[in-house]
Amino acid sequence: MVDNEKSCVYKNRDAPVEARVKDLLSQMTLPEKVGQMTLIECSVASQAVIKDYSIGGLLNRAGNWPFEDAKSSYWADMIDGFQRSALESRLGIPIIYGIDAVHGNNDVYGATIFPHNIGLGATRDVDLVRRIGAATALEVRACGAHWAFAPCVAVVKDPRWGRCYESYGEVAQIVSEMTSLVSGLQGEPPKEHTNGYPFLAGRKNVVACAKHFVGDGGTNKAINEGNTILPYKDLERKHIAPYKKCISQGLSTVMASYSSWNGDKLHSHHFLLTEVLKQKLGFKGYVVSDWEGLDRLSDPPGSNYRNCVKMGINAGIDMVMVPFKYEKFTNDLIDLVESGEVSMARIDDAVERILRVKFVAGLFEYSLADRTLLPTVGCKEHRELAREAVRKSLVLLKNGKYARFLPLNCNAERILVVGTHADDLGYQCGGWTKTMYGQSGRITNGTTLLDAIKATVGDETEVIYEKTPSEETLAARKSFSYAIVAVGELPYAETMGDNSELIIPLNGSEIITAVAEKIPTLVILFSGRPMFLEPQVLEKAEALVAAWLPGTEGQGMADVIFGDYEFQGKLPASWFKSVDQLPLDIESNGYLPLFPLGFGLGHDSVENSNTV
Ligand code: GLC
Repeated sequence: MVDNEKSCVYKNRDAPVEARVKDLLSQMTLPEKVGQMTLIECSVASQAVIKDYSIGGLLNRAGNWPFEDAKSSYWADMIDGFQRSALESRLGIPIIYGIDAVHGNNDVYGATIFPHNIGLGATRDVDLVRRIGAATALEVRACGAHWAFAPCVAVVKDPRWGRCYESYGEVAQIVSEMTSLVSGLQGEPPKEHTNGYPFLAGRKNVVACAKHFVGDGGTNKAINEGNTILPYKDLERKHIAPYKKCISQGLSTVMASYSSWNGDKLHSHHFLLTEVLKQKLGFKGYVVSDWEGLDRLSDPPGSNYRNCVKMGINAGIDMVMVPFKYEKFTNDLIDLVESGEVSMARIDDAVERILRVKFVAGLFEYSLADRTLLPTVGCKEHRELAREAVRKSLVLLKNGKYARFLPLNCNAERILVVGTHADDLGYQCGGWTKTMYGQSGRITNGTTLLDAIKATVGDETEVIYEKTPSEETLAARKSFSYAIVAVGELPYAETMGDNSELIIPLNGSEIITAVAEKIPTLVILFSGRPMFLEPQVLEKAEALVAAWLPGTEGQGMADVIFGDYEFQGKLPASWFKSVDQLPLDIESNGYLPLFPLGFGLGHDSVENSNTV
């Protein structure tokens, strides 16, 4: 351990950040510097590894911990254990623990799960998204983590992309507005904020991470980790623009994209990572690779790894999400510096950026979890905020043929609720919930659509629920005032979600038609994107609502469909007639969607107008 506080400028919380950075950097050995550039998965992290390698960061990959039994205090104990090891290292540099809190602190049981970004984009509510960021920050800090790998600021060009739901929308303007999540997560920057300098308001905030830089949502044929083919001026206008807005809010970290631009991979793209992001845009935080992002610079991934490290670090990657083979990574990088293939200046630049964020984030002062925040996890206030977000995210696409169908009568005598998604919290939350790919069932605390309907209708109303409508139930069609059919996508993430057909799974269209041709029906579609709507679905359904992936607070849906609140959601992405049209481009003369970008009806609208 280095001597006491007085002799160490970097340990003096009142010293200027840059003086602390300079002082600490000057005392670090090359192995310690390389250690700070190393981000490892917690399954390979031990007290010895963290201490001996001076590891800079830790993360967990979804699913490798006892979810149901792991309350936030479990997480705080685990992360504090790692942190104490780091604080016992020679220079006592704290780790930064990152987590995929992309719609609430979704790795943690009992956390509030907010609508995924595509639904938040439908709200167009900048302040709502900022408040969601602030709530998420509390729930992340409560479990001891310091860094959220959010917001994803992809601009999604084509809904066939498996990460469409992680995008706020198909145009840069919508996505840029929703970057208010950064101010929520990190705190509002001061008036005199110097553009590009990291900023964090205090102990109840977390480091944000805008991802994935850049053009991840614009790849050719919507192939995840594919190739975005654009002239630079269009890349800047369509995909870089949201990062400028994030940086103006004091963004602290950026995650590089697996994808390529005009055939060149982003993880080794010096022009975009260094000349554009760091020099032109003035970004002073650090760039982190994606998971095994350096490995994917070679084919097969991981081959010639030393050369991948050389390309990535020289291009401008500052911290590497290795995440397992930390010995190989550190040995290769030290060797590259000693051989002169990576300059010490590049290493110092990377480490300065990492230390700057750690100082600005207050990690040296607030290294351990603040247990007083534990009651915020899944608290009533946050669930009410999530319920508000659900309400505002719903987009009404059709509301009756000749007379309005919504709002529904909550005192009807008998109603039928049908479908795979009516009573499945896991389906309601989608991917990146509990595990990376998501799961079916009552995976955490929350309210399903069926729960919400039952909680809203009158005591005299009989609610009949069938996951799949039976013949006898449909035969008794005259006994029902109306039906609600809930169908949609199964949870997925990343490449697993790439889909060229976009047909409603589990016979969703057939279920809708079977019910709607017999009983006046409201269809609620749970999906991470616009889906193909069969003509008979559009024709037979009295009303149609896009609910996206609303998360745990299903009561927000009942609030609107029964009329306590008005619809206000507007499409964040164009709704296609046929996948043959994709990608739709609002700037093109051939733009003929089923429902245009920005479309959304209210209770009093009747026509399912398709006019642009
Ligand atoms: C992933 C994703 C990225 C995520 C990271 C850590 O592969 O691309 O969005 O933050 O790994 O889980």
